[in-house]
Amino acid sequence: MKVTVVGAGAVGATCADNIARKELCQELVLLDIKEGIAEGKAQDMMQTATLLGFDTKITGSTNDYAKTAGSDVVVITSGLPRKPGMTREELIGVNAGIVKGVCENILKHSPHAIIIVISNPMDTMTYLALQSTGLPKHRIIGMGGTLDSSRFKYQLSQHLGCSPSDLNAVVVGGHGDTTMIPLIRLATWNSTPVTNFLSAEQQEKIVKDTMVGGATLTALIGTSAWYAPGAAGAALVESILRDEKKLFTCCVALDGEYGQKDICLGVPVTIGKNGWEKIVDFKLNEAEQAAFNKSADAVRSMNDVLKTL
Ligand code: 2OP
Repeated sequence: MKVTVVGAGAVGATCADNIARKELCQELVLLDIKEGIAEGKAQDMMQTATLLGFDTKITGSTNDYAKTAGSDVVVITSGLPRKPGMTREELIGVNAGIVKGVCENILKHSPHAIIIVISNPMDTMTYLALQSTGLPKHRIIGMGGTLDSSRFKYQLSQHLGCSPSDLNAVVVGGHGDTTMIPLIRLATWNSTPVTNFLSAEQQEKIVKDTMVGGATLTALIGTSAWYAPGAAGAALVESILRDEKKLFTCCVALDGEYGQKDICLGVPVTIGKNGWEKIVDFKLNEAEQAAFNKSADAVRSMNDVLKTL
């Protein structure tokens, strides 16, 4: 098995580090356009192999896509990250060109790869990857909801004083501060609805804090977060390469599911060796469906910007 991570910034490097530590593949290529950064970080990671006990061979490359040839999975993290006060949507102009170019180069050398998109604005970049490559829809996966759901579980665990691993909670819709929808009504603490234990005020705060989870970290750190985004990317790679068929929220092409078409948006999907395999199309209540439609409208108008670039 071979994996390529494009973009050796903080998210890409963390994603690669997690993939290597879990020995998800024999070969891992880290690629970046900036001279030396991918080679340097790959060597640094390889120097942890004996300390951490992994066998994955990590190679760095400055924009030489020939080195990525034959990749089974490619994770795209390239593009500018957010600065404090910036929305993910403001990155569209620069990142669209970057993501399109990366997809073209990747497919020249790895025509069968499954592509995971992390670059922002993630919903639109996933849609762009799908449109520009013309690949079967199951091979294009946007990571956003996987990250947002893990942030949701973190927020819930802080209020419940419980282990986040005992929680089941999903965020659907877009990966934007105003477009994501944490489904608190359906969240459970080992099968018991969390709403049994939380006041209306607490629930409102958890939902709000989840939605601005990324922006909060950007304000604190001065740039976009990387530990959870990198780990979320690696979790998807794991489910593909081990054919786990785990259920994640991912941004995928909808064809009538949740009442939407011609859009990539976050919904619960199983992830396995074929990429995303099955959308779990459960019934949202009226308010949730209205929020989902509103989120789709916002993402769709962002997708329309692609036509003007
Ligand atoms: C975040 O929310 C990177 O979009 C990513 O942190």
